[in-house]
Amino acid sequence: METDASVPSGLAAPQRVLLIIAGGIAAYKALELIRRLRERDIAVRCVLTAAGAEFVTPLSVAALSGERVYRDLFSLTEESEMGHIRLSREADLVVVAPATADLMAKLANGHADDLASTALLATDKPVLLAPAMNVEMWRHPATQRNLARLKDDGVRVIGPESGDLACGEVGAGRMAEPHDIAAAVGFLLAGGEPLLAGRHALVTSGPTREAVDPVRFISNRSSGKQGHAIAAALARFGATTTLVAGPTALGDPPGVRTVHVESAQEMAAACEAAMPADIAVCAAAVADWQLRAVAARKIKKRGAAPAFDLVETPDILATVSRPGPRRPRLVVGFAAETGDLIAEATAKRRRKGCDWILANDVAATPIFGADTTTVHLITATGAEAWPRMSKIALAERLARRIAAALAPAAAPSPA
Ligand code: CTP
Repeated sequence: METDASVPSGLAAPQRVLLIIAGGIAAYKALELIRRLRERDIAVRCVLTAAGAEFVTPLSVAALSGERVYRDLFSLTEESEMGHIRLSREADLVVVAPATADLMAKLANGHADDLASTALLATDKPVLLAPAMNVEMWRHPATQRNLARLKDDGVRVIGPESGDLACGEVGAGRMAEPHDIAAAVGFLLAGGEPLLAGRHALVTSGPTREAVDPVRFISNRSSGKQGHAIAAALARFGATTTLVAGPTALGDPPGVRTVHVESAQEMAAACEAAMPADIAVCAAAVADWQLRAVAARKIKKRGAAPAFDLVETPDILATVSRPGPRRPRLVVGFAAETGDLIAEATAKRRRKGCDWILANDVAATPIFGADTTTVHLITATGAEAWPRMSKIALAERLARRIAAALAPAAAPSPA
């Protein structure tokens, strides 16, 4: 990366994105995207197309980006201050959000008749498109042909997502969410590949707390380090990631939507609400039992010790793994065992119906709260011993493995 003389020595120059905002109702989300990128200390310079300016004002874009907005290819003042070549070269990455069918067509065919298309053609930096359009426009053979050509040219694409569209129709065409685009940008700027762009990942992490009375609870030693690291790694790989976290001392991972819960019941409800997902990783140490009835008042230490009437908590992993149209393509669980590790974890994989299990021998080495871990990956085809590594490295390795299993060329059933 180029260095900036205005930055004090020892500090890296901020990374810079050229954001091209084309015309479409999703342009309003570009404002949110600018904020998300700035939160990541990424400098954002914007080009607003004429159609884009019908949806968002140059003033909003300038105010949020903190820089002047470029609009006109033939403006003498703009050209004398910052030529279109410099505009695209000074960026580390060019992002088009929303990318319309028209702008995609222009780029695929090498047109350069306005500032946006000229900057795209003149750039020597990676380009990330976040398409947004009507479902039929997206499905049209011309758009799909342009998309294939752009991908061949090395252009990265995130989304579009499926759902209700602004035009009133339902289907693929909705622009990826700004925090997901920001995560993909962060990943690309870090030199990575958004291997999981367009996927939704659900991760559970941490312990749960099952209330006994207003002051006491049943819980366990889980720190949440592994689950949080997995959520962060999946997000770095470009997945839209929802983390459902029990009480931990950890901060929310960047680029991840984190839902905080306390009990197993709350965790199950939050997971249900976060579905559908393409990937689910259940790393939480969910308490196995909860009290049938939580005491409304503090239980007093008088007379005999209280006997607790316990009932099983909902099994989130087994529920998520249940066959059906909403089942994620890949479900990964954990198994903390103190007996015959492989045999117990293999049986647990079948019993819970998940695809993979990462099995920890919690009797051999302290895992809870530690920064390193040793696991076996149990799949339908056998067990694989992974070397001892940090929880962050394990998260990275798992995310890579998940991306490989979900890649279009991979076998239909993940092994
Ligand atoms: N799990 C879950 N919901 C529960 C209990 C466990 O989602 N109520 C998930 C955990 O997140 C983990 C996996 O199930 O991915 C296995 O957890 P573990 O505690 O090892 O298994 P248990 O089902 O509790 O079985 P046992 O304690 O009998 O070994």
